[in-house]
Amino acid sequence: MELKGCIFDLDGVIVDTAKYHFLAWKRLADELGFEFTEENNEALKGVSRMASLEILLSVGGIKKSTAEKELLATRKNNWYVEFISKMTPEEILPGSVELLRRLRSVGIHTAIGSASKNAGMILDRIGISQLFDVIVDGHKIAHAKPDPEVFLKGAEELGIAPSCCVVFEDAVAGVEAALAGGMKCVGIGDKNRLSKADLVVPDLTDITIEKLRKL
Ligand code: BG6
Ligand code: MG
Repeated sequence: MELKGCIFDLDGVIVDTAKYHFLAWKRLADELGFEFTEENNEALKGVSRMASLEILLSVGGIKKSTAEKELLATRKNNWYVEFISKMTPEEILPGSVELLRRLRSVGIHTAIGSASKNAGMILDRIGISQLFDVIVDGHKIAHAKPDPEVFLKGAEELGIAPSCCVVFEDAVAGVEAALAGGMKCVGIGDKNRLSKADLVVPDLTDITIEKLRKL
């Protein structure tokens, strides 16, 4: 492919915030009186806050009104924000900064494509906003992954055709979003779970520009 832009999901690709999302959702489930496991949590990865709450409530077999759901989502988010407000640059996942610098040094543009409304805060805490030309987060989109909107908006703001972009994603919904947007996708994590991606790697350490151009 003609590689001109790389779009990175944030949670689970650049930082392991999935553990904080899990702890906050689990606390909510504890309060509501049911068990919520790490396995249950897999289905929430890449999914928007309200859609995640719907999945959580269905695990507990609980029905709530729209107003109650708003309160519960805010409660969870307040706990989550407590965790991420203490994040440091040491929590940046291996290989991320090196890859971003290498891409930019050869003129390949970089973007964040995240469903999170807390992406700005996380990037501030870990101090790498300057390594991205464009940041598309949960505030800028109406449709959650697997809808391709977040990545199409990223490509559009970069001024690059989707076919010249590679997306890095750890969530099944995110891989589907990238492919639906006509982009190549590198899955970060488990080969079986992310089998639809063009390439799956455990983390960003072994990614080279040559490997990306061959996608
Ligand atoms: C995604 C996470 O990046 O953002 C999901 O993978 C999360 O787990 C979603 O639900 C929304 O995040 P936030 O911070 O807006 O609640
Ligand atoms: Mg993710």
